[in-house]
Amino acid sequence: VRIADLLTPCLLVDVDVLERNLAEMASFFADRPCGLRPHFKAHKCVEIARRQREHGIVGVTVQIPYEAVVLAEAGFDDVLVANQVVGRRRIEQVAAAASRCRVTVAVDSDETIDALAGLDVGILIEVNVGLVRGGAPPDRAAGLADRAHGLGLEVRGVQGYEGHVVGLADAAARREGAERSMAILLDVAPQVGGGIVSAGGTGTYDVTGAIPGITEVQAGSYVLMDTAYSALGLPFGEALSCLATVTTVAERHYVVDAGLKALATDHGPPVLASDAPGSVRFLSDEHATIGLGPDDRPPAPGDTVRLRPSHVDPTVALHDRLYAVREGEVLEVWTVHRGWGPLVRR
Ligand SMILES: Cc1ncc(COP(=O)(O)O)c(C=O)c1O
Repeated sequence: VRIADLLTPCLLVDVDVLERNLAEMASFFADRPCGLRPHFKAHKCVEIARRQREHGIVGVTVQIPYEAVVLAEAGFDDVLVANQVVGRRRIEQVAAAASRCRVTVAVDSDETIDALAGLDVGILIEVNVGLVRGGAPPDRAAGLADRAHGLGLEVRGVQGYEGHVVGLADAAARREGAERSMAILLDVAPQVGGGIVSAGGTGTYDVTGAIPGITEVQAGSYVLMDTAYSALGLPFGEALSCLATVTTVAERHYVVDAGLKALATDHGPPVLASDAPGSVRFLSDEHATIGLGPDDRPPAPGDTVRLRPSHVDPTVALHDRLYAVREGEVLEVWTVHRGWGPLVRR
């Protein structure tokens, strides 16, 4: 199949750029005590996770139990659910994954610990290191570890995600923010024990991954990238694009068939690939409207253009498939494990 034969809108993955991103990240971790535990939520795609494994990882990070089930069924042997798991159905998914592979779950309260009692899983105490989201206050961590021990759960360490700084445009501010967050985490880690200190994202992998005592980095976006992370000047290329077809051409604008149902815009509108005329003005449900300047040569209806997504994770989650491409050819079609999964029963 050629790219020209695809139904648009659809997501293309440039496999050469993907491979370069994998190699770049692997080279950073090659000689370090810290390992890479790439976050699956960025792509939700087993084939990409396999390529990450071939480049050397200590395990995979997921955000929701369904992703752990997918990876366990695909033969991955070590999965961290880097998020609190609450609710019977989600706990059943954790149990299903844990019946096939080593599973570790982040906890930040008595309730999230008690919910795991009796399961064959280990835990990380998630500590709030500045992001206004999950994580226990640092002074609660040791008490939570004691509670988990009391329930027979193996305490494997701590987690702290510095998500409030990973996207800072100023590299020095990003570094300082990550260092401050990791100081909080490393202060608590000995009180909790267990050995794992898990943190980091694509914007901070090189800072967090080089701090002595951090044992693993959870970066995910680096493998496909997006315009928001590209703006930081990281050494990773944009492997992901959305192919769209021109449907209307007017005097000063044209329209393509990729809108809000194909591209997430929480980090801003997508950006046209450099060979397409004009600039994106706004998105509707099924359209992107693209403004044309006086010097732009208008396309014709039926032409295709590529759009560069601004935020990889929610964009991928709008699609069922990724098309792995090279030079106009579709090499492989990869499934995206979107959604929260079917019910599983113990
Ligand atoms: C818990 C956790 N770890 C790591 C990441 C890293 O992701 P990214 O590679 O997009 O920075 C995220 C992203 O939101 C996250 O929520």
